[in-house]
Amino acid sequence: MPLPGFSLPYPLPREAMPRHVAMIMDGNGRWAKQKGRPRVYGHKCGAERVREIVEQSGQWGIEVLTLYAFSDENWGRPTEEVSVIMKLIEHYLGKEREELNRKNVRFQIIGDIARLSPALQRLLEETKRFLAGNTGLILNVAISYGGRAEITRATQALAHKIARGEIKPEDITSDLISQHLDTAGLPDPDLVIRTSGEMRISNFLLWQSAYSEFHFSSVMWPEFTREEFASALRHYSSRERRFGLVSNHDNGRLQDMSPC
Ligand code: IPE
Ligand code: IPE
Ligand code: MG
Repeated sequence: MPLPGFSLPYPLPREAMPRHVAMIMDGNGRWAKQKGRPRVYGHKCGAERVREIVEQSGQWGIEVLTLYAFSDENWGRPTEEVSVIMKLIEHYLGKEREELNRKNVRFQIIGDIARLSPALQRLLEETKRFLAGNTGLILNVAISYGGRAEITRATQALAHKIARGEIKPEDITSDLISQHLDTAGLPDPDLVIRTSGEMRISNFLLWQSAYSEFHFSSVMWPEFTREEFASALRHYSSRERRFGLVSNHDNGRLQDMSPC
């Protein structure tokens, strides 16, 4: 039996909470190495961290939590490490499915699923179906995912529609492109969190993060607790999102052309 979860108070007023939080769960290998353990131990402990973050996201009323679990580029890692990560994903889903259901969580996948083993593909589909009737948090897991490949697939799908005469080139708008991405129907992430101190995007949600806020935490993923999560949200709320416009309080004096 998993321990009953506890909830931290809302770190922000409810209306200030992001709708969609996306996380680059990085640092498993370095964390394990610091402890004199093999990298795969870091993945195991990292997978255990996911439960708490999912639970807390639901309790705070976040609508979508996207977790970057395995990138297109990660296929290039040693075969043994790849196979441990795949097993951990299988194990997590097998073990947590009922619990996710009790927590009213829905489940989605983004990425090139065709590259996964048939057994894992089936498990992902079954999990999606099993949780489809829920109404709470959408847990969106990026597996075998790369932003460039996703945009490439969307572009190919649109090109096929043009070739079949279903749409004209002029019909392509940024909304139409969004609708052909794996994330179709989901809001863009308001906040992208990356653990482990690295400050790069590593092919994650390239299109969708155009106006996301970024939070880089120096904590390695296996140590990313709900408190760290709350602190990331507080930083997020202190930023002003301008979306290319100007601050409301800068709208007053428009005329000043004196020399600089
Ligand atoms: C993130 O941790 C998990 C995956 C990429 C699957 P890493 O395995 O990248 O750990 P570091 O960054 O090497 O420490
Ligand atoms: C990004 O981390 C991918 C995931 C967290 C799944 P990586 O460790 O693969 O990225 P790089 O190599 O530091 O850019
Ligand atoms: Mg890494």
